[in-house]
Amino acid sequence: MQWRGSSLSKASRFWGLAQPLEGYRFNWDSLVLASLADSIPARHFCDVGTGCGVIAYLLASERDRTGLAVDVQREMATFARENLQDLPVKVICADVRNGLPADCLFDLVVTNPPYGVMGAQRISPNPSRAIACTALNGDLLDFATAIHGHCAQDAHFCFVSPDSNWARTRDALEEMGWYAKRVWRFYRGDKPFRVAVDCVRCLEPYVERSFESQSVVLDALIEPMIERLGRSKRAMAD
Ligand SMILES: C[S@@+](CC[C@H](N)C(=O)[O-])C[C@H]1O[C@@H](n2cnc3c(N)ncnc32)[C@H](O)[C@@H]1O
Repeated sequence: MQWRGSSLSKASRFWGLAQPLEGYRFNWDSLVLASLADSIPARHFCDVGTGCGVIAYLLASERDRTGLAVDVQREMATFARENLQDLPVKVICADVRNGLPADCLFDLVVTNPPYGVMGAQRISPNPSRAIACTALNGDLLDFATAIHGHCAQDAHFCFVSPDSNWARTRDALEEMGWYAKRVWRFYRGDKPFRVAVDCVRCLEPYVERSFESQSVVLDALIEPMIERLGRSKRAMAD
């Protein structure tokens, strides 16, 4: 594999994927979300805010799927292009709020959006991490609005979100016609702190099914994703 450009020459590798030395790196949110979305028999996905492309990578490798991966940051789109170059995933650098190419139609959209609220939290002094972690260029609901016209009836919209935002987010998504089908809730001690949600675009609400995650469940969810990344690492070394 070749390094190209100045940002890539300053990259580190984690499980075979190139990422910035400084700035945002993927974490277990990304792996949980990939695990949730991977269970959906969708063929054409969009990864909004793809970062280094880890979720798109996991959805397209070892699966019969094509994808579009979008990131507002040129540097992150460059990393995603590098990581996804052997897969049927197109990477574009764009602010999703400005719209996607008109001919795009997806049966699955995934996003691990910036959670931080401007004014409520400290913004990272690292500009790239600030854009990744704080909603400086829109939040989950802005992303949902942007992709709505590119999703067929019965399409899935999967995302991760702080548990504290979930009730408000669910109401707003239901107004757009997105209903939660699966909600995975994660706890620190006895406090819920994160949800991973699979919503479906439909006319009738699904009955929400949620479960309390324990570490054993979390491990079971992310281990197949870690193994898939590990196989990619071995493939590159061969
Ligand atoms: C929390 S990071 C997630 C990155 C990656 N999906 C992952 O799981 O590691 C959020 C990403 O969204 C991107 N982003 C933020 N606002 C955006 C916008 N309006 N349009 C497209 N991408 C955006 C950021 O540049 C960042 O890479």
